[in-house]
Amino acid sequence: MGQPLRVGIVGVGAISGQYLSTFARLEAVRPGAVRVVAVADLDATRAAAVAAEQDVRALTVDELTTDPEVDLVLNLTIPAAHAEIALKAIAAGKDVYGEKPLAATLEDARAVLEAGRAAGVRVGCAPDTVLGTGVQTARAAIDGGAIGEPVAATATMMTPGHERWHPNPDFYYQPGGGPLLDMGPYYVTTLVTLLGPVASVVGTASHTRTTRTIGSGSRQGEVIPVDVDTHVTGVLRHESGALSTLVMSFDSVATRASEIEVHGQTGSLIVPDPNRFDGDVQLHELGGAWRTLPPSAGYRDAARGYGVVDLATTPPGTPARANGDLAYHVLDIMTSLLASAGSGTGVAVESTCERPAAVPLSDMPLSDMPLSDMPLSDMPLSDMPLSDAPS
Ligand SMILES: NC(=O)c1ccc[n+]([C@@H]2O[C@H](COP(=O)([O-])OP(=O)(O)OC[C@H]3O[C@@H](n4cnc5c(N)ncnc54)[C@H](O)[C@@H]3O)[C@@H](O)[C@H]2O)c1
Repeated sequence: MGQPLRVGIVGVGAISGQYLSTFARLEAVRPGAVRVVAVADLDATRAAAVAAEQDVRALTVDELTTDPEVDLVLNLTIPAAHAEIALKAIAAGKDVYGEKPLAATLEDARAVLEAGRAAGVRVGCAPDTVLGTGVQTARAAIDGGAIGEPVAATATMMTPGHERWHPNPDFYYQPGGGPLLDMGPYYVTTLVTLLGPVASVVGTASHTRTTRTIGSGSRQGEVIPVDVDTHVTGVLRHESGALSTLVMSFDSVATRASEIEVHGQTGSLIVPDPNRFDGDVQLHELGGAWRTLPPSAGYRDAARGYGVVDLATTPPGTPARANGDLAYHVLDIMTSLLASAGSGTGVAVESTCERPAAVPLSDMPLSDMPLSDMPLSDMPLSDMPLSDAPS
């Protein structure tokens, strides 16, 4: 039997439960593949509670990032702490995988990538939703010529804001947050996955309020400051020439627009919510009518954490799919868009990246692991909540 991937989690707040559920589910179908061995959090009480629940060690951040039993540090802290934790782990020779965005600023993200390269460790980053059947089926359709030459895309995310449901929403309204840096990674990573890297952007942005009121949890009613733009729009010019129009807003009530549409010369495609792993892909060919495509690519029943396993099971020398270079390009696109909104002029995006390898229709990313010859159990894959913002 091969060695399990030993994961240490830093930051056990709201999203950590989804990763823990995924790893528990993988443990049930592929025993010993991924094992959480320790957790750490600035809030030691929170870390202790999760550690007790998971029967793992609660450590300090410094202890966890240097622990000899930890192979990969899973960084689920808030955006402002992403780079600091990643750099600590890389300095100790650990592989890292973090929640999005890669870092709160492009400079910090660059430092993480450079440190990772120098140390010879892997740097991975959410979102891994793009590895599910929704976006991958759309990609397979586009790559297979279903819409002809892609010309344009639209990406729309319009909500009233996360303070309605998140008990500690402060970070969404601080630099590194806002609708673009928070939710944009799902949409922009999908657009790059479908249409390739982006060469230049034009953006505009605004915010309507300087405070927000927390709507749930122990701090309900508390007023928090807003220090970022909360409505961001723009156009991305892909290197291919295709144009994507983006609207990301915490200043709206509701929308009936598709999350993402891609239009080509002979067809139009509706891509399901990029904050989910699955969903229907719909195709309308010229002269035809809307029809739903059966899932033809991607990890079935995927959930948050598949990107970690995909990274761990990618052979050395091959880029993992949810990799740092892609996350850096996505962050570069988003920060360029905000820079364009500030200056009122178009901005060239300096970085580029390879489109990650397509995911064949498959159950889970464990095929390259030494455990791959282990039989799958019959246990059904359970559902779990997947989205950032419950509607
Ligand atoms: N909440 C969601 O639904 C959701 C969904 C997808 C992705 N994300 C992303 O996941 C990340 C975490 O979000 P969350 O909602 O879980 O936030 P959260 O505030 O609920 O949890 C973050 C945890 O990290 C800890 N932390 C912060 N700074 C730290 C540091 N320097 N060292 C150690 N621990 C530290 C906090 O104490 C907290 O327990 C963010 O990047 C967010 O964008 C969140």
